[in-house]
Order: sequence, then structure tokens, then C-alpha cells
Amino acid sequence: MSERLAVLASQTGSLFEVILKKGVKVELMVADRECRALSIAAEAGVPHVLLPRTFKNDFDREAYTLDMLALLREHRIDLVAMAGFMTFFSPSIFAKDAYFLKILNIHPSLLPSFKGDRAVHDAIKAGVKLSGCTIHWATERLDDGPILIQEAVRVDSSDTPESLHEKIKEVERDLYPELLRLLIN
Ligand code: GRF
Repeated sequence: MSERLAVLASQTGSLFEVILKKGVKVELMVADRECRALSIAAEAGVPHVLLPRTFKNDFDREAYTLDMLALLREHRIDLVAMAGFMTFFSPSIFAKDAYFLKILNIHPSLLPSFKGDRAVHDAIKAGVKLSGCTIHWATERLDDGPILIQEAVRVDSSDTPESLHEKIKEVERDLYPELLRLLIN
């Protein structure tokens, strides 16, 4: 029997869209804010939930993480794929009796270089000639955890953060669906 997959997204949902297009079965999509990923799920008939968060100093990360954990359990989710999901969880979700080594993250750099949400800008600023994407198991440390796969892309002198990110996304669109397919079967 295959594992039940959930995808978490916050942004355009372009990766989520490709995951669906490539025939990977998604049992649940969760967004932490209003975003295009929700309409993609609605159009594709994928069960989806908006679990909104605040962006103020009083954001309760632990309460949000526990709500997410409850939602994933309610939908009997086995494997979680973050795809442009911009909220960082507290440690409870990574406990052995929760989703320890069951949550994947995809990041637009060759980790451990350039962690964080400015990864592509930082790579351009540093003048690196190679960047790429990393898929790894998420842990309680940001953009950290065991690496499953990486693929490099060349950075040209004419590249802007936008053009480099697009090159990286091209690679991500092949790698992520393939890896998810392997893991859920
Ligand atoms: C990808 O580049 C991924 O590495 C990063 O967010 C981007 C996907 O976002 N974490 P989206 O699917 O285009 O919204």
C-alpha cells in the first residue's frame, strides 16, 4: 500500500502543480496563508486546508505546529512534502512519535550553503559559479537535516536572482515528483 502524502505550500504552488501534473497522488494540501496553491488544489479536486498564521511578534509557533500535527494525523498522512512552505515548525512535529524523518524540504541552494529565504539572492551576491537544489529531511533546525538528493546548476555572469531561481526550479520540477513517487511507493 502506498504512503499518504501531504504537500505544504505558501506561495505560487508551481512545484505543487508539477507534482500533481506528474501523477503523484496527493491526499492533502495545506497552506499557511492565502495563495495560488489553494486554487490549484481546488481545481484538481485535492482536499485542501488553509491553516492561517499571523506574521506578528506574538506568533505562537508551538500552537501552530500542534495544529498542523493534528491536521496531518486527522488525514492519516504518512509523508509530508514542503514545497515553497514558508513557516518553520517547532520541534514537536519532528518527535519520534510524530513525523521524525517524514517531512521533506526542498531548498533552492546546494546546502549547507545559503540557508534561509534569501538563498538565491545570497548565492548571486556571493558570486558562486554553481548553485542548485537540495531535497532533505526537515529537522528542527532551519534548512538542515539529512540530504537525500542534490542537483547543481551553473550560474552565469548574466544571471539575476530571478533567472537563477527559474533555472533551479526547472531542475526541482523533475527531481521532486520523481523522489516523491519513489518514497510513497
Ligand atoms: C522552490 O524554489 C523551493 O526550493 C522553495 O520554494 C520554491 C517553490 O515555490 N522552497 P513555488 O512552488 O513556486 O510556490
